[in-house]
Amino acid sequence: MTHRVSRRQFCSAMALTAAGMAIAGCRIGASSTPSPSASGTPRGATPAFPEGFKWGVATSAYQIEGAVNADGRGRSIWDTFCDRAGAIADSSSGAVACDHYNRWETDLDLMHTLGMGSYRFSIAWPRVLPDGRGPVNQRGLDFYDRLVDGLLARGISPLATIFHWDLPQALQDRGGWENRDSAEWFADYAMVLFTALGDRVDGWLTINEAKIIAQQGYQYGRMAPGKTDARAAGVVVHHLNLAHGRAVTAFRAAEVQGGIGPCLQLAPCYPADQSEEAAAAARTADVTENALYLDPLLKGRYPGLSKLDSQLAAGIRAAVRDGDLTAVSAPVDFLGVNYYTPVVVDGHGQSLQRHPLSAAGWQQIYPRGLYDILTRIQRDYASPEIVITENGVPDDASDSSLPISDHARLDFFDQHLRAVHQAIADRCRITGYHAWSLLDNFEWSAGYTQRWGLVRVDFGTLQRTPKASASWYSTVARSNQVGPK
Ligand code: FCB
Repeated sequence: MTHRVSRRQFCSAMALTAAGMAIAGCRIGASSTPSPSASGTPRGATPAFPEGFKWGVATSAYQIEGAVNADGRGRSIWDTFCDRAGAIADSSSGAVACDHYNRWETDLDLMHTLGMGSYRFSIAWPRVLPDGRGPVNQRGLDFYDRLVDGLLARGISPLATIFHWDLPQALQDRGGWENRDSAEWFADYAMVLFTALGDRVDGWLTINEAKIIAQQGYQYGRMAPGKTDARAAGVVVHHLNLAHGRAVTAFRAAEVQGGIGPCLQLAPCYPADQSEEAAAAARTADVTENALYLDPLLKGRYPGLSKLDSQLAAGIRAAVRDGDLTAVSAPVDFLGVNYYTPVVVDGHGQSLQRHPLSAAGWQQIYPRGLYDILTRIQRDYASPEIVITENGVPDDASDSSLPISDHARLDFFDQHLRAVHQAIADRCRITGYHAWSLLDNFEWSAGYTQRWGLVRVDFGTLQRTPKASASWYSTVARSNQVGPK
């Protein structure tokens, strides 16, 4: 079995990691990452991005909204998980978070001031359907109605994620994603949204990062619902893929405007050395990290499962029924890509750190990895349209000039955007980029110990203060190019 150090694994070791970074002098700007462009001028201005390229920011409901008891919202699995002793690094929850539910107009004004053309947000299923199914909670739905109108009034294109991890607890009580009916529950919920908002939303993302739900929620237990059952994780992989496909079919039936696609967190996998064993381990890692989602959705088949964890593979095989892969691979309009980190494995399948670690602990900073994964998708999956739906880094905890002089983040975006530009030059069809995240927010199991925002949030006063990276990113968005540094 491949035993990889994956995301969230370090949450409890956060302080240690930050201290280690300080000692090692490990800074983002100090990365020895080669520029993806062999011939380019890394620090000069890039040529313009394609006309109409969408510059945006991303958030998710549970991480920013707060107001968990407002207007008839039901309980979600994250409310439950946060109550579990030891589950969240600082014992916090998203109960208040950024209070975006009440401050959404301020946040939309902020985005407008920054010159954002697109906003990727998620809709909280338990606000719309408090029991996950059945009667619609109109007051919950109205919040998103106002949000979408508010975006359009400010000239910002709405990109809505249908599900970003906050499953209604009532559905978890029926087995959650382990229950095959979850695909139907999801499609029905999606249809409620298409009917209510489909005349104004430009883009829909079905499920955020099925991989992280299966791995961290079901296999390693670090995120809600906190299970440690590899077989169940396999079942969930397939049901999430199926739910995605059923929602795409519902979208076509709804005949609304805009497009729809999945949102996958992809990680290019590299062998740590020249050995055949390491090359084989990297191919296996690629199945777990990428192909388990890309292949069924875009090619209508699962990759070979024989090298996977046997329980995980057994779960997938047990869940697949005749005809499912046709449903799973219903044609999409674009592919949402979240990129944070590469995976580097040795001949034993052990994960190694080969690049600077961010303060997240699980993230190796390697901009070239973004170029590699984008060009690989173009090559292996018939060049779909790609929207980059997340990319970002938390503040460097060892940087004493924080809170708002976040030059390391600015550097991170500069390098990753150059990688995106090079991928476009090499014929990848990339139409937008969303920085993660607009605001510092509730970072799941890490609670408020990690700050990922372009805008600082004081969690005492809830005051918002744009960081240096916000003003830099605003210039990029307005000029449609990454300027000289
Ligand atoms: C992604 C999640 C997002 C946020 C970032 C840091 O995997 O989609 O909600 O937690 O990581």
